[in-house]
Amino acid sequence: MKWSPLCRNHFEGLTGRWNKQTPANMHRKSEKLYITMATYLKKHICMLNTLPFKDYSRLETRAVLKKTAQAHRRLAELKGLAASIPNESILLNTLTLQEAKDSSAVENIIITHNELYKANLFFHTSEKPAAKEVRNYAAALRQGFDAVRSNGIIHLANILSIQQTIEKNNAGLRKLPGTTLKNAATDEIIYTPPQDAKAVERLMHNLVDYMNIHDTDDLDPLVKMAIIHHQFESIHPFYDGNGRTGRIINILYLVAQNLLDLPILYLSRYFIQDKAEYYRQLQAVRNNGKWEPWILYMLEGIHQTSQQTIALILAIKQLLADYKQGIRQQLPKIYRQELLNNLFHHPYTKIDFVMEDLNISRITATKYLEQLVSKGFLQKEKLGRSNYYINQPLLKLLIEG
Ligand SMILES: Nc1ncnc2c1ncn2[C@@H]1O[C@H](COP(=O)(O)OP(=O)(O)OP(=O)(O)O)[C@@H](O)[C@H]1O
Ligand SMILES: [Mg+2]
Repeated sequence: MKWSPLCRNHFEGLTGRWNKQTPANMHRKSEKLYITMATYLKKHICMLNTLPFKDYSRLETRAVLKKTAQAHRRLAELKGLAASIPNESILLNTLTLQEAKDSSAVENIIITHNELYKANLFFHTSEKPAAKEVRNYAAALRQGFDAVRSNGIIHLANILSIQQTIEKNNAGLRKLPGTTLKNAATDEIIYTPPQDAKAVERLMHNLVDYMNIHDTDDLDPLVKMAIIHHQFESIHPFYDGNGRTGRIINILYLVAQNLLDLPILYLSRYFIQDKAEYYRQLQAVRNNGKWEPWILYMLEGIHQTSQQTIALILAIKQLLADYKQGIRQQLPKIYRQELLNNLFHHPYTKIDFVMEDLNISRITATKYLEQLVSKGFLQKEKLGRSNYYINQPLLKLLIEG
């Protein structure tokens, strides 16, 4: 039988005590029971260590330190670049929705950009359930970001309300046993998180302390982020939504650590590139007790995703400059900074948004949009009796980026 090292200690402790107290003949008779117990323990009971870990030498290896430095360089570049976009709401809105779309895709909630942006325009009418889920995720991310930005700390209450916003229920932390992680194809149990409600609560308090108290260990924050994500998914504190909540915590942790000002590192795209690999990496720590491959995997994700996000933001920045110059030249009478912001804040816009952002009448907003269409800055579409207007080049960047 191959043991998960995290379970092994617990199992050996239990069986060791059991052997000592059991007379030899009893032991022979109950050999079958012993094997049954071993199998049961392997599958069903896995003790999680609290944080911080006692032995750091296994974590910050040479390879990890090298990759950490690379990831930091990219992340710092991303932070600086994002700060150079004058209106933060442009990146906040577009990139939050990108992340929401990709993170929901991990959960097999699949939606196209077109459906997502249309739902954002007309959500009160015909909304696909998937669009609603994605919008819930975006709302949860924004809500978590606002909380972390205002107090610099990730409280347990914030995590609970993020999950509540994603799942739209208030079940809170798991109280009843029965949650297991299964192989979707074979239905085999891969991992059983702690079952006892008190253990779940205790581990979550420990994790939140670890996130917020800086001198619990001297690990690099990016290495800590990898550990935090693994620990959160292993506690699996909720009945559902653990993956999505955990992915939001990653981003918030970077903001809390001042490594980013805005929640714009959408790591979920890295995970869905190869979802099986993400699950395999999570489970491998448990199967072989080695942290290094997991930490390297996460650092590579931060590195790659920062690079992709930098390219996307540079392209958005260039497009903003082109639109600014183009509208100023071709439609000088209607050019206003607020109008430009509107076209980039909402890749799909509509008359009401323009009226609101520019504080103008319906007639004027309609006139502005029609002029932008006539000069090729926007493409007009119809849904029922309403019109909406697409910033096609921006949409293309978001689809590709
Ligand atoms: N072997 C494993 N060990 C620990 N965590 C795992 C393992 N396999 C998967 N996970 C985590 O569990 C998450 C799924 O849990 P859950 O269904 O509660 O979350 P979700 O948000 O509804 O789903 P998803 O993550 O698919 O969007 C995965 O995304 C992953 O983060
Ligand atoms: Mg789920």
